Amino acid sequence: MRTRVGIVGAGPAGLLLSLLLAEHGIDSVIVETRSRAAIEETIRAGVLEHGTVETLRQYGVGDRALAEGARHDGIELRFGGQGHRIDFANLVGRSVWLYPQHEVLKDLIAARLAAGADIRFECGDVALRDVTSDRPVIAFTEADGTAVELECDVVAGCDGSAGISRHTIPDAARTDYFRTYPFGWFGVLVEAPPSAPELIYAHSERGFALVSTRTPTVQRLYFQCDPDEDAAAWSDDRIWAELQARVAGDGFSLAEGPIFQRGVIPMRSYVCEPMRYGRLFLAGDAAHTVPPTGAKGLNLAVADVLVLARALDSYYATGSTALLDSYSDVASRRVWRAQHFSWWMTSMLHTDPAGSAFDVRRQLGELESVTGSTAGSTYLAEAYTGWPVEF
Ligand code: FAD
Ligand code: DHB
Repeated sequence: MRTRVGIVGAGPAGLLLSLLLAEHGIDSVIVETRSRAAIEETIRAGVLEHGTVETLRQYGVGDRALAEGARHDGIELRFGGQGHRIDFANLVGRSVWLYPQHEVLKDLIAARLAAGADIRFECGDVALRDVTSDRPVIAFTEADGTAVELECDVVAGCDGSAGISRHTIPDAARTDYFRTYPFGWFGVLVEAPPSAPELIYAHSERGFALVSTRTPTVQRLYFQCDPDEDAAAWSDDRIWAELQARVAGDGFSLAEGPIFQRGVIPMRSYVCEPMRYGRLFLAGDAAHTVPPTGAKGLNLAVADVLVLARALDSYYATGSTALLDSYSDVASRRVWRAQHFSWWMTSMLHTDPAGSAFDVRRQLGELESVTGSTAGSTYLAEAYTGWPVEF
């Protein structure tokens, strides 16, 4: 079997890449280990940057995001028991959209299948071969056990942080940059009305909390916890008491309701460089992970794919490899800006278990500087709503 671009992984990166390539008349096949149902049910990101929504709209898969998602023109930073609004619309003239990642995935999968795209779900034993030759191969078994060898011009490794693509790059040709954080996020989905019109990022002496939303009747809440915390060991009452304590002050409290989903997410920063090896190109979480505090992961995957799709289009249209050759450098510049922003938001808002009273007072000073100055707030607003994609 043959295709031009073999794509490993049907997450946001892989699906969007196949859509953009199809727009340029470039065929691709997606090889994915999970089932369509599992992909469409996994709860992950919620915040779409201005440019991400614009990309979905431009390529015909943004209708539901625009109709059912919610535009947010700012966020609240909460500290010392008081809320401080960062007004994105006034500071930078851009907004973000709250629309869950699994809904983006439903929209992308439906659009790709309707257009006749070849997506192989539930594959096993996925392996890459000959990526430094001009005929790289994705070997895998189909759901029914049939062994397949997919010969490609180029392989796009879009298989997320637990995928195989980046491990195909030999250790000697790859640098891994890591940071792990001494905390995780305890995330819950609850049946309740929204507690606030915009997202709240709360600093407190008990640790960070995030108040987000999904629909008028479903809310998404997170609080900083031990990375090894057992989510099942917490009663609903204890979860609510912890969340309420972290956002308390100036009369504010959360609207409570039944908790119907819970889990603990680890926090790490990771970058693999280069993002290219021979004819293998990494995009999205396959090449980098950010801690979720900056809401950047999904958006960074979209930005990578825009750069990669343009490079592949140029290659097929002109035969020039110039944009493919610069892909890793161009994409990783944005990756490192997003790494810095995500690390900065994380460090400013979370309690370091090994930190001192000095560290807490320093964080409060930093939060005062950011919220009390137009320059400080503008940086946050620019980064959160998303920088323009550079090619
Ligand atoms: P993935 O979504 O991980 O997709 C990779 C796909 O590859 C998966 O479908 C996987 O099954 C498949 N795969 C894996 N291994 C193989 C293999 N060997 N062969 C074939 N296929 C394989 N980001 C934001 O921008 N905003 C947010 O608000 C936000 N919040 C988050 C909240 C949580 C709780 C979590 C966990 C993440 C959050 N993120 C957020 C990050 C975001 O979800 C990821 O960055 C995003 O999913 C990356 O997309 P991707 O396509 O690169 O990888
Ligand atoms: C959500 C997740 C994030 O990481 C974030 O920074 C904001 C919102 C969410 O799941 O809604």
